[in-house]
Amino acid sequence: MQHALYGPEGFFTGPASGPADHFRTSVHASPLFAGALLRLIEAVDARLGRPPVLQVVDVGAGRGELLAALAASTAGTPLAGRVRFTGVELAPRPAGLPDAIAWRSGIPSAIEGVLLATEWLDNVPLDVAEIDSDGRARRLLVDLVTGAESLGADVNPADRFWLARWWPGAGLGDRVEIGWPRDVVWADAVAAVRRGCALAVDYGHLRGARPAFGTLTGFRDGREVDPVPDGSCDVTAHVALDSAAAAGGTPYRIMTQRAALRALGVDGARPPLDLARTDPAGYLRALGAAGAAAELTDPAGLGGHWWLLHEVGIELRGTI
Ligand SMILES: C[S@@+](CC[C@H](N)C(=O)[O-])C[C@H]1O[C@@H](n2cnc3c(N)ncnc32)[C@H](O)[C@@H]1O
Repeated sequence: MQHALYGPEGFFTGPASGPADHFRTSVHASPLFAGALLRLIEAVDARLGRPPVLQVVDVGAGRGELLAALAASTAGTPLAGRVRFTGVELAPRPAGLPDAIAWRSGIPSAIEGVLLATEWLDNVPLDVAEIDSDGRARRLLVDLVTGAESLGADVNPADRFWLARWWPGAGLGDRVEIGWPRDVVWADAVAAVRRGCALAVDYGHLRGARPAFGTLTGFRDGREVDPVPDGSCDVTAHVALDSAAAAGGTPYRIMTQRAALRALGVDGARPPLDLARTDPAGYLRALGAAGAAAELTDPAGLGGHWWLLHEVGIELRGTI
């Protein structure tokens, strides 16, 4: 997975196109998503007492789409002139990104502000294991040419330790996705925030409802495909959000995207019919926004994604 996604010919870091060409994240679904995050950023800024510099760091920034949308919306707000946007990416800086947005490959330290990670953790490589007839968790091997799968050696003690705590109860033929590599990178990301918050938005599951056969899958050109790790497709697995949360080492809250966006004012309600008579163009605009909001908050789709929020030295209740 590491080589297939981030190697020289990797899906994300090779010469191929950007993530937006292959799948639709909340960032691409609608500017309402960036608008909601802007409200969160403004709330963090206010709780921090409007510092001279407020940092907004997007980890796994893709082609910088979210940062560009945020940067464009801060003009004329109290954030203008004080907010610094930074994209953290393994992929090179995209052409045409506004100069005001910094781009780097590692997470800066001592962040005062907001660290965002939308659909990053699901792309952090992990190993998959299957429980064999002796009840042993065996590493799943994949033939890079044919995609054929076979069982390899037993998982190692670190894997077993994680599975016992975070993915208990797997039985014969079940597949488990060993999530500690995500916990490690998320703990580092949260630790980089000195004051403010860290927010991961991703699809995932909690301990009470791990999927018996795992979630490993592939995406190419907007279609789900076999997750062959040969660099030709995205390879992704849902995130064990509660495990990452606990690894963060600070207080946290986990909520659905639907609940989070509603708290931030994105609700998908249709505009009043009266508006169609008094302001037909305004009605159509409002209808379009309602449709986009409905997509972002649909419990069976993007609205079912999880928001993992760590508040560091501030308290955001009342806003979210
Ligand atoms: C699914 S894309 C998400 C892009 C964007 N955040 C969005 O929501 O549309 C995941 C991105 O994370 C990046 N990525 C993965 N591991 C990373 C790491 N350790 N540091 C920085 N970027 C990373 C990949 O290169 C890829 O562009």
